[in-house]
Amino acid sequence: MAILKIARMGHPVLARPAAPVPDPGAPEIAALIEDMIATLADIGGRGLAAPQVHVPLRVVIFHAPETGDGELTRLVNPVIEPLGDTMEDGWEGCLSVPGLRGMVPRHARVRYRGVTPEGVAIDRMAEGLHARVVQHECDHLDGILYPMRMTDLGTLVFESELRWFATAAPVATADAEDNAA
Ligand code: NI
Repeated sequence: MAILKIARMGHPVLARPAAPVPDPGAPEIAALIEDMIATLADIGGRGLAAPQVHVPLRVVIFHAPETGDGELTRLVNPVIEPLGDTMEDGWEGCLSVPGLRGMVPRHARVRYRGVTPEGVAIDRMAEGLHARVVQHECDHLDGILYPMRMTDLGTLVFESELRWFATAAPVATADAEDNAA
């Protein structure tokens, strides 16, 4: 296992679509995911997408307690489908955009599918923070960072100033240092 370097906003690997993984069961995909898990544990975050560690493949990992198993979800070739038209605002951060937070509208409910490196099919409904994290991570696979989803750049703020906003909305961050509340 290795701790990988995080690509930051401006690096081209974050700006282009990632390629589908032809063989999710390949040993190099299992090794990549092990390294991503070690990297996420080291840096302390909620989720990570492969392009964030300079690998342009459709692989994400994330913690979402709402999944019920309390475990890290590992997804290869994930696909997301919005359920309904309801959008929800919530705070997000990103390991590739360090130090900042922004208010981002996301679909309140989604269905997502993918496969684990062991070949187990995942097919879940998600809402709330769970849905937000999945959308944030899968956006990385399409070259999208959360500021590109924001509708009010007046809410793009430094983490240290978030307290001025925190009373106005619950803080639920995706992908950044874990301070979800
Ligand atoms: Ni991110």
